[in-house]
Amino acid sequence: MDTQTQKKGPPSFEEAKNRRLKVRAAGLDPNYWYPVEFDKNVAKGQIIEVRFWGQNPVAVYRDEDGRLHAIENRCAHRQLPLSVGLVRGNRVICPYHGWEYNGAGELVHVPHDLFGKKMPRCTLRSYPLRVRYGLIWIFFGDAERAHEVAMPEIPELEGPNPWASFPVDFTWKAHHSMLIDNVSDFTHEFLHRKFKPFSNAKLKRLETIGDTVFVDYDTDVGRGKFSGLFIDRENISTSSMELGYQYPYQWSNTDNKIKHWCFVLPIDERTSRAIFIFYFDHFIVPFTKVRIPQRVMKHFMKVAGRLSIKPLIAQDGLAVESEQIGYERHWDEPIVEVNPAVNAFQALTVRKWEEYLAREKAKREEKELVRLKRRQALEAADAAAAADGAE
Ligand code: FES
Ligand SMILES: [Fe+2]
Repeated sequence: MDTQTQKKGPPSFEEAKNRRLKVRAAGLDPNYWYPVEFDKNVAKGQIIEVRFWGQNPVAVYRDEDGRLHAIENRCAHRQLPLSVGLVRGNRVICPYHGWEYNGAGELVHVPHDLFGKKMPRCTLRSYPLRVRYGLIWIFFGDAERAHEVAMPEIPELEGPNPWASFPVDFTWKAHHSMLIDNVSDFTHEFLHRKFKPFSNAKLKRLETIGDTVFVDYDTDVGRGKFSGLFIDRENISTSSMELGYQYPYQWSNTDNKIKHWCFVLPIDERTSRAIFIFYFDHFIVPFTKVRIPQRVMKHFMKVAGRLSIKPLIAQDGLAVESEQIGYERHWDEPIVEVNPAVNAFQALTVRKWEEYLAREKAKREEKELVRLKRRQALEAADAAAAADGAE
C-alpha cells in the first residue's frame, strides 16, 4: 500500500500565510461591472449561462424584442438551469414543466394544474445589465450600488469617428491574478520573442494611487516583423508605455495613440475569461508616411488582429495556464519575484478582497443584530401578553 501522504493543495484565502498565497486564493469584488459576453454573440431568443466567482450561475437571455435580461440560472421548481430552456416573448421558460419567468426573475405563469393550490410566489435574483463597447456587462454585487459604480470609460470607441479596434477573448484555466500579473509585467518579453510587442523594458514608474497601480516602462513598442511595419514611428513615440491596473481592470497606453483594455472575468479558482480590446488611432501603409484610411482600418484590423494580436495573446494563455499547473503542484515553494510591479498588483488584489470580505461580514452581523432585536421584541410582546392574561 502506498504509505506516502498526499500533499495538501494550496491554502484558502483565510489560511494563506503570505501575499502570494493570498492573491492566488482571492476573488474579485463583485461590486464592479464585468463584461460577460460580446453583445453580437447573444441572438434573439438565445440564453447563455455566465458564471462569476463563487456565485450562483446567471442566465443571460435576449427576449424576442431584442432586450437582454440577466436572472439566476435556476428554475425555482426543481432547480433546472434555465439556460436549457427557451425564450418566448420577453419570458424565459423552463423546459421541464414550462414555468415562466420574466426579466425581473418573477415566476409569472405555471401552465399545469395547481391541485387547488395558489400560484407559488417565487422571484429569482435578477442582475443589473448594460451593453457598452460591444460587450454585455453585469453587476454581480449589490444591485442597489450598480448605478453609483462607474464603468471603464473608453471615449475613443464612442462618438462619430471611433478608433479602429480589435476585440479578442480567451477563457484560460488560470486564476485571475495570474492574468493581471501577466499583462502588466514586462519581464516576459522572452515569451513574445516572435512578436516583440515590447522589448528591453525598464521600469520607470510604479505607484499605487487609491485603487490603481500605475506602471511606466521605457520599452521599444511594437517591433514585430509584421506589426512593426504599420506603426507610424514618426508621429507616435514608441519608446515607452504606460500601464494601469485600475482594479479590477487593466489597460495600456502608448503615446495616446495605441491602447488596450483587458477585462478579466473570474469564473472560479482556476478559470478566468480575459476580454481584450485593442484600439489604435491610426496605422500607416508600410514604407510610406500614408495613413491607412479610416474606412479600410476596420478590415485591416481584422487581418492584423488575427495574424499578430490573437496569436500573441494566446502565448500569454499558454504561460498562465502552465503557471496554474505549476502553482498547484508547488505552491509551497519560496517566492522568487523580482519585478516590484507584480508585488504591487498582488497587494491591491489582496487588499480589495479583504475589504470586500470585511464589508460582507459587517452586513451579515448587522442582519443578525436586526434578527436578534426582532426576536427580543417578539419575546417581550409575548411575555407582556402572558402577564396580561395572568392578571
Ligand atoms: S423544473 Fe422547471 S418547471 Fe419544473
Ligand atoms: Fe504577454
